[in-house]
Amino acid sequence: MRKKFVAGNWKMFTHAAAARQLASAVAHGLGNDKRVSVAVCPPFPYLSAVAEALKGGSVALGAQNCYHEKEGAFTGEVSPAMLVDVGCRYVILGHSERRQKLGESDAFINRKVHAALAAGLEVILCLGETLEERQSHRTETVLETQLNGSLAGIEANSLRRVVLAYEPVWAIGTGQNATPQQAQDAHAFLRGKIRARFGEETASALPIQYGGSVKPDNAAILFAQPDVDGGLIGGASLNADSFLAIVRAALGEPAA
Ligand code: 13P
Repeated sequence: MRKKFVAGNWKMFTHAAAARQLASAVAHGLGNDKRVSVAVCPPFPYLSAVAEALKGGSVALGAQNCYHEKEGAFTGEVSPAMLVDVGCRYVILGHSERRQKLGESDAFINRKVHAALAAGLEVILCLGETLEERQSHRTETVLETQLNGSLAGIEANSLRRVVLAYEPVWAIGTGQNATPQQAQDAHAFLRGKIRARFGEETASALPIQYGGSVKPDNAAILFAQPDVDGGLIGGASLNADSFLAIVRAALGEPAA
């Protein structure tokens, strides 16, 4: 059985003291519980402070982006090796906010996926359709295009270090989560595509998170779907109590 994985994407929120405090509270709340994988992904400037706050605990550190080059004259960019250096285990790539607001293409994301894996990071690869794409019945086409484009040239053995995050754009930050059935259908579709390309063993081991308005009161039902292996949490990850309640929901324990 796949272990559930709950990650907090703090986006462009917090400040140094708040980041440290939030990370400590999450680490303290989780203790040494290893039944669920938990990560927090703060903004770049706070990665080191959060790494320090997480030291010795069970919560992993992730970043929200990286560049695909190892080093060089790339003003403002951060390499995968730098993320490893400050203690990151994960990097989120392909988030819809970067696809939409910063114009990231599947080809560009694919270069980052290769670079991140080569540097030893695990990748949380985000995919998801817009409302207009869903309403015009293009959800599966969009997901397949994003999946194939982002994972071009990736081998099955590297896929052990990839987590997919299905994040329907219309559900992000809107308070309108996908229904458990909508999430399950999209996840089963993605797993089916992974199965067809990489085989059953890889597909059944692959964690697929759901992201988009996950809250303590809807997490349990979403996570109870057979192909939903946890969540990538935005707004609710900025409060330790609500994030920990979502983690408990992943364990099948009462969330609130
Ligand atoms: P919300 O949980 O705020 O909807 O954000 C989801 C998300 O984008 C996580 O990456």
